[in-house]
Amino acid sequence: MNAPVVPPAETLRTALAGLLDGLPAKQAAQAVERLIATYRGATPTHAPILRDRADVAAYAAYRMPATFEAVRSALGALADAAPGWVPGSHVDVGGGTGAATWAVSATWQGERSVTVLDWAEPALALGREIAAAHPGLRDVRWRRARLGAGLALESTDLVTASYVLNELTAADRAALVDAAAAAAQAVVLVEAGTPDGYARVIEARDRLISAGFRVAAPCPHSAACPIAPGTDWCHFSARVSRSSLHRQVKGGSLAYEDEKFSYVAAARFPVSPASARVVRRPQIRKGQVLLDLCESEPSLHRATVTKRHGVLYRAARDTDWGDAWPPAED
Ligand SMILES: C[S@@+](CC[C@H](N)C(=O)[O-])C[C@H]1O[C@@H](n2cnc3c(N)ncnc32)[C@H](O)[C@@H]1O
Repeated sequence: MNAPVVPPAETLRTALAGLLDGLPAKQAAQAVERLIATYRGATPTHAPILRDRADVAAYAAYRMPATFEAVRSALGALADAAPGWVPGSHVDVGGGTGAATWAVSATWQGERSVTVLDWAEPALALGREIAAAHPGLRDVRWRRARLGAGLALESTDLVTASYVLNELTAADRAALVDAAAAAAQAVVLVEAGTPDGYARVIEARDRLISAGFRVAAPCPHSAACPIAPGTDWCHFSARVSRSSLHRQVKGGSLAYEDEKFSYVAAARFPVSPASARVVRRPQIRKGQVLLDLCESEPSLHRATVTKRHGVLYRAARDTDWGDAWPPAED
């Protein structure tokens, strides 16, 4: 009998739970608070923020479940727009402890060659340690590299960079995106779901399109974003179960929190983007659902779906922020 296959998300959760074993709860909470304070400070920095194992264990235990879920959500949207495409190789740039490698293996089954690049040796070391829990990630190459001018990436099917552009200067962000565009068939970039994170995503999206890529998600088109600069920002939300460490640091007893993120997934090969995407949390009213949509003829539009729409109304009630609209037929 075959052993049951444990989903990567669950394996990751278990591996992370063991990380802080032996570390007094107070010390773990202090490490996380230090980390949050550092990330609130000025980035980019000239030296790695993740300096030692305590920093990295705090990062992994506290942030990795959220970055994993955000990247998984972005990759899911790429997979929907590129059915049948499965990356045979993956380079994760600024990959830290490897959240995106876990997200890729949660999205597409099968083996692939994987390389994680980062300048923080302790992050790579811990990433390797955590990845030992996942048979599909045991051969990942964890390589030290500085992102910036002169960055050249090996040719690969997929490049990911999650929560990294924020830590780079404008010139280094451009170098990263150009290197990714030169090396990959598909590129997925994820940033925090803030006005600044969105601005960095839009800047990178423009560069990818200039390099010959088409947007697969979230946008239903590869034309300019219809959001007037400074008026709003396109972002999405991924639900993350809270660990006991989260509860210690943030207090409260909520079992989950919502990670807000902005992203772009683009490809050199033909893709089928959604015909429209829900760009805000749907508002469910009595007998109607209000959907804020970004549409393929680039524009933002509020659709009101009422009971009179029958099947579509029922679908609208099940539709979530970030989903394609209308839902794909089974
Ligand atoms: C916020 S962490 C994100 C890690 C991971 N991608 C994730 O989503 O969880 C940012 C990562 O970028 C790396 N980084 C920042 N600037 C870098 C640079 N100039 N060269 C190489 N790595 C860099 C950091 O060491 C860190 O691991």
